[in-house]
Amino acid sequence: MMRAESNGTMQGAASRRTLAQGDYEAFQRFLQEACGIMLGAGKEYLVSSRLGGLMRKYDVATVGDLLSHLRTGSNPLLRTSIIDAMTTNETFWFRDPAHFRLLIGRILPELTTRPGQRLRIWSAACSSGQEPYNIGMAVNEFQSENPGLPKGVVEILATDISGSVLDEARKGVYCGLAASRGLNLDQRNGCFVTRGECLEVRPEIKRLVSFRELNLTRGYEMLGRFDVIFCRNVLIYFSSVQKQDILQRMARILNPGGYLFLGSTESLSHHCDQFEMVNEFNGIAYRLKTS
Ligand SMILES: C[S@@+](CC[C@H](N)C(=O)[O-])C[C@H]1O[C@@H](n2cnc3c(N)ncnc32)[C@H](O)[C@@H]1O
Repeated sequence: MMRAESNGTMQGAASRRTLAQGDYEAFQRFLQEACGIMLGAGKEYLVSSRLGGLMRKYDVATVGDLLSHLRTGSNPLLRTSIIDAMTTNETFWFRDPAHFRLLIGRILPELTTRPGQRLRIWSAACSSGQEPYNIGMAVNEFQSENPGLPKGVVEILATDISGSVLDEARKGVYCGLAASRGLNLDQRNGCFVTRGECLEVRPEIKRLVSFRELNLTRGYEMLGRFDVIFCRNVLIYFSSVQKQDILQRMARILNPGGYLFLGSTESLSHHCDQFEMVNEFNGIAYRLKTS
């Protein structure tokens, strides 16, 4: 095999190089099977640019060679690295803030009044942790306003397919743009400890969240049941059949009357009829019908 790139000029050339149609189609099939992500037509540039680093690392010249390398099974980390490279992990603090107003203003008061029950919340594609920590911040705010509520009744599980974003999320330390995007001064001061140029999520919020690697296209019934699921800005990458399958399986592990949040550009449309829409505080959630 030919070495792909060895210097900056050649790297630029590699990312512009056309991907053979056969290799692109084989890669589309691999990615959909591995993690549900559907690459439409004309995304060859995306594949070339995102896999450039891995092709250099594994010393291969084409995406087809990379897939052959994968098939030999000689490097178990390669599959994970390809998925890591191809997932879009964009996230920021308090994305769709109305969701958190709805959580604090309606859902937490409703669900925490059930006697003796723990409240379980799942952030199903949590990326680098902003979403589950924001849920933790909302829970913390609600608990300070309702001091009678027993501590420890709320548990937040955060999952993602990408091991590298989960490593960042577990640390809970954010620097540069990740430490500022979406945050106002009150939130910075109230929810974080300053660590040099960076911000670390306060320990009482960190303590509410646990992280685990999980592929949404595989089984997740072993996670137990939940009262609220955040599945935001991930279904857009999946096929219609896969969306429907994921939403129906989520409906099966939500407790009756439980809530589902989707990203603001996503909707249930015809994918699942087991939910009713709740629109309050300018935010939309979907409540599992009770009968
Ligand atoms: C755009 S981010 C959304 C993050 C966050 N939910 C938000 O709304 O800001 C999408 C996340 O979905 C994850 N993802 C993609 N495919 C997945 C799959 N099959 N199973 C679990 N997570 C997946 C990616 O790794 C990425 O972190």
